[in-house]
Amino acid sequence: MIILGIETSCDETSAAVLKDGKLLSSIVSSQYFHSKYGGVVPELASRAHQKVIVRVVDEALNSAGVKKDELDGIAVTYGPGLIGSLLVGVSFAKAMAYGLKIPIVGVNHIEGHIFSTFLMDEHPDFPFISLVVSGGHTMLILVDDFLKMKLLGQTRDDAAGEAFDKVAKLLGLGYPGGPFIDKLAREGDPNFVKFPKPIPSAKGTEKTDESYEFSFSGLKTAVLYYLKKINFQNLDEEEKNKIVKNVSASFQRAVVDALVEQTIKAAKDFNVKNIAIAGGVAANSELRKTMKEKAESEGLKLFIPDLAYCTDNAAMIAFVGYIKLKNGIKSDFELAPIPNLKI
Ligand code: KG4
Ligand code: ZN
Repeated sequence: MIILGIETSCDETSAAVLKDGKLLSSIVSSQYFHSKYGGVVPELASRAHQKVIVRVVDEALNSAGVKKDELDGIAVTYGPGLIGSLLVGVSFAKAMAYGLKIPIVGVNHIEGHIFSTFLMDEHPDFPFISLVVSGGHTMLILVDDFLKMKLLGQTRDDAAGEAFDKVAKLLGLGYPGGPFIDKLAREGDPNFVKFPKPIPSAKGTEKTDESYEFSFSGLKTAVLYYLKKINFQNLDEEEKNKIVKNVSASFQRAVVDALVEQTIKAAKDFNVKNIAIAGGVAANSELRKTMKEKAESEGLKLFIPDLAYCTDNAAMIAFVGYIKLKNGIKSDFELAPIPNLKI
């Protein structure tokens, strides 16, 4: 079964070809121009998808050595994401599937992230706990099977990646901020400032769904207040550089500790031995290191996809599409984007 995957939910235009679950090609075209605006500009994102989508799909087919008429189906992200961006991918996929007279299947972007580790040689056994951490999402999911999963908890406000991006902005760093903070934190002291833990307190003593929640907006505000208190803007360059490194390390410590603590707690509560993390923030070196150490000490096995499959990509969408089509699940041509699609 040869599947073409298409992903355009945010600012990456991506296409991938998968044969019987094995990846043949994966092309990602990133819209770097958003950095000068300090965040993704939705209107510009959809226009850029529209411009490059034909080229990206052609490149994926060519590098896989697959002709259009050899395709057995098309999988496309239909949410969650930016409506204008999703519309480009969904409309393109529908037109192509209609022309080729092959099935189309809509895929949830989050499910794509959850199963991205299955693109690697080593992947978790069911059941496993999935931590999806990106610029738009921070959630813990109990995954019983390909088509059976339960959301355990998520962020109440900002996503972890969004917090990285906002704090980077406060520190005068570029966008997206995660990679800058990751790098600078290596030279900083994680105990320099004690920032609040980004985990909301659970109501009462009974375990509730809230036990697996996160809250990053207070942490971001704490960084803002700290910088105001020390009059950051008026420090000389040398002092500023020192503060940037120390605040990066202290902020990152708070985020990583919360992500690790909640993930390990979920694994223990549900007696699950495998953990997978995915999404752009899974590229964070401190998160990878700390999660690995903690998982090992608890006798848990950790799976993280290669960097290229942590961030948005169509390979993970093609994979979920393959599983769905194999199980007789397909969409009809009424398929429409759902910007706030849930799992
Ligand atoms: O999954 P992704 O590519 O896009 C979506 O949001 O769906 O994730 C992008 C996010 C951004 O917020 C970015 O700052 C963050 O992932 N990120 C990182 C790192 N690399 C990317 N955050 C922390 N450390 C990193 N090394
Ligand atoms: Zn994503």
